[in-house]
Amino acid sequence: MNRTDPPTVTVSTYAEARDAFRRKELRQALYDAGEVVMADVLVNLHGDEHRARRRLENRLFRRAVHTSYERELFPPIVEETLAPHVAAGSAELVGLSHQMMMNLAAFTAGVDRPAGTAEETFRLYSYMMRFIEGATLAHYAGDREAKAAEVAAALEAFDGEFLQPSVERRRRALARLDAGEITEDDLPRDVLAVLLRNSDDLRLPADVVLRETCFYLLAGAHTSATAFVRTLHSIFTLGSEDSGDLAFLQRCVHETMRLHPSSPVAMRWALEDVELSSGRRVAAGDLVVIDLMAANRDPAAFGDDADRFDPDRELASGVGRWGLSFGLGMHACIGQELAAGMAVGDEPPGDEHLYGLVAVAVRAVLDAGARPDPDDPARLDPASERGYWATYPVRF
Ligand code: HEM
Repeated sequence: MNRTDPPTVTVSTYAEARDAFRRKELRQALYDAGEVVMADVLVNLHGDEHRARRRLENRLFRRAVHTSYERELFPPIVEETLAPHVAAGSAELVGLSHQMMMNLAAFTAGVDRPAGTAEETFRLYSYMMRFIEGATLAHYAGDREAKAAEVAAALEAFDGEFLQPSVERRRRALARLDAGEITEDDLPRDVLAVLLRNSDDLRLPADVVLRETCFYLLAGAHTSATAFVRTLHSIFTLGSEDSGDLAFLQRCVHETMRLHPSSPVAMRWALEDVELSSGRRVAAGDLVVIDLMAANRDPAAFGDDADRFDPDRELASGVGRWGLSFGLGMHACIGQELAAGMAVGDEPPGDEHLYGLVAVAVRAVLDAGARPDPDDPARLDPASERGYWATYPVRF
């Protein structure tokens, strides 16, 4: 198979994309160029290996944990991240969103910051931005080899500075658990602790633990940060004085994510010949490109005005408000409920409802009075093929 120019099948309708996501004969292909960070991480595994690791990591992503994140852990992080900017009267949303979401993702991943200083957080932030560059190398317009070498050096430095001290703290806690000095509830609730506790069963070498932790750091932070900035842009563009209640903001998050999926395509290699539900045939070795941007705007699923931003849009049953932006099937996003909350129906949400961390963060920024800076307009990143904002200045 010629990997530089494989036969490609593009899937653009909602129905066919749903089917493609669920096919076990199709294997992850999106991160082939991002191996420096992404080799052997969950989203790149297949079959039994994927199932075993996913089953373990699922233990962490439970309703009770999501509730404690959304109601207890996250609000003070949002407040602390925002406070200095509000005091200064202005902020740049792209940087701010990554700081905010990274603080959260570091908890989920299990990356400790023992010094607790702003300087330490800034160093972690610089590492994370490097890892994001590594994972998204396929979209990088510059010298990819040089960038991959930079990312590899950052991984090594991060390992010594952040990961190994975090590993040691968890190993000490696990030893105390074995000795009966603490209970399960006293263990850190994060991916690293889950991996270390089960490392014998999973036979994970240290370099895989390193990349899996980095992957969680960036998977949790980058996607949520992007969705946050884009949702605020959608709301500013609506131009309404009243930003509505949290349920409305949650629908704005979902509608923004439908129109602007974090990754505009998913990709899979066909391991065998497959016939999709549409009757289209895919041959073994073909590259299947799932065009999320198109599937999420399919009029058959979202109506004739599918291209329009309409957070109150009526949907047929079984159609997700965020389209396929969290994927589906074996690799369906593990952090979906954490980031986007529970699905919103026609009924007003009850007390148990979770709105998701992106909506909670958007609410806080709007409540602080954020609006686009009229003297310094937001700019898209010209180096990115994916329509990211390079800067988004706001005033409070
Ligand atoms: C707005 C926020 C988010 C978006 C748009 C998003 C999107 C996605 C998508 C599209 C996939 C599937 C990729 C594929 O099939 O190739 C995925 C998988 C994944 N996401 Fe998310 N994600 C978000 C937030 C999060 C958060 C907060 C976490 C962690 C705390 C997370 C962790 C993961 C993991 C671990 C996978 C791989 C799952 C597997 O392979 O079994 N994501 N995400």
